[in-house]
Amino acid sequence: MVSLVEWVDFPPLGDDRGSLVALEGGKTVPFAIERVYYLFGTGRGVSRGHHAHRRLQQVAVCVTGHCRMSLDDGGQREEVLLNSPTRGLLIRSMVWREMCDFSPDCVLLVLASEHYDESDYIRDYGRFLAELGRDS
Ligand code: TYD
Repeated sequence: MVSLVEWVDFPPLGDDRGSLVALEGGKTVPFAIERVYYLFGTGRGVSRGHHAHRRLQQVAVCVTGHCRMSLDDGGQREEVLLNSPTRGLLIRSMVWREMCDFSPDCVLLVLASEHYDESDYIRDYGRFLAELGRDS
């Protein structure tokens, strides 16, 4: 079975002054970047996400701290630790995602292939399965 976990490695461009990572749409990030947002100050015990997107693709990078993300394509579920500013997780369309265990210092940067559009969200897991053609 093909893994849902697809990492995108960002070459560190740092020197003896410190580290630098460049994120370029269509190059280090495998789509044109239309939107960038970030989650920070996430409270202890909070779980976020709990949705899928019909079209949107995203790359999530934990630039500081760490958190866990689970990905579910309706057939399998995998969980990863995001804890590196030089490694992003590619989240394809029609993948249910949940994030938890945010460290207090976690800054989760997300690069998105489209502008915000609520109609692209599927926020109900049963509906997600139905749109995939699976029974809940
Ligand atoms: P949401 O995507 O539901 O957060 P999460 O899945 O991480 O828990 O977004 C939370 C709120 O912010 C929701 O009301 C939609 C709004 N929002 C925007 O307006 N623009 C955006 O780019 C994002 C990601 C969310």
